[in-house]
Amino acid sequence: MQHLHEATTYIRPLLQGFEPEFGIILGTGLGALVKDLTIHHTIPYASIPNFPVSTVESHSGNLLAAELGGRKVLVMQGRFHYYEGYTMEQVVLPVRVMKLLGIRKLFVSNAAGGLHPDMEYSDLMLIEDHINLQPTNPLIGRNLDELGPRFPDMLEPYDATLLRQAQEAARSLGFADKVRRGVYVSVPGPMLETPAEYRYLRTIGADAVGMSTVPEVIAAVHMGLPVLAISVITDLCAPDKLKRVAIADILRTAAAAEPRLTALLRAVIEQQ
Ligand code: HPA
Repeated sequence: MQHLHEATTYIRPLLQGFEPEFGIILGTGLGALVKDLTIHHTIPYASIPNFPVSTVESHSGNLLAAELGGRKVLVMQGRFHYYEGYTMEQVVLPVRVMKLLGIRKLFVSNAAGGLHPDMEYSDLMLIEDHINLQPTNPLIGRNLDELGPRFPDMLEPYDATLLRQAQEAARSLGFADKVRRGVYVSVPGPMLETPAEYRYLRTIGADAVGMSTVPEVIAAVHMGLPVLAISVITDLCAPDKLKRVAIADILRTAAAAEPRLTALLRAVIEQQ
């Protein structure tokens, strides 16, 4: 808790009265949302006490206080992954700090491999449930009673109302055919999966696979924060569609989906 309070105490005066309503975490290759923001304050992660610093080239490292669709948001421009060598507590520290700074809902994006056979490049998947295959989770250890209960319920980790609003927004924006719901499985990475592992992940009920999101969502659920999480499908992992992927391909495909992701997030946030 002390680490959380130190970070929060550092950030709050820098916001100069800006009261954030929502938090947004931008995933791999999904940073272009930033150009739709009216930015009030940019706080480099490196300046914040106890904040980890992104080691992944495709992620920048700033906390932005900004407006999107007329609402006040904190945006994590770059997130942290377990494969970078951080502890799970470090991975979720920014989410906990955003909650202590006042956010009431959390919006998360990521790049993911599509396991469902009908998926196409650049589709969006609204995450309706998840499977945690990370080797650990952020709630292991002494419970932070100030944040939430020892045994949080996980029956509805993704808020049903936000999911419905996102689906309705996709319909009114005219790209409902590019948006589906599904189950996200989080794996440690950093290597992608073998063909046998992709078949296994499909068999256990996943529609998309990635290396993030679930730790942050567990921390959010622990704190009672409603979550909307969206995967951008950057590679196809059904057995007949597998091919070698390079990070450059993943970034290109994420960029192609970006306008839809941004429009969807903005439309949902405007309605809150
Ligand atoms: N596997 C794991 N993580 C990913 C993938 C994948 O195929 N694509 C994007 N992130």
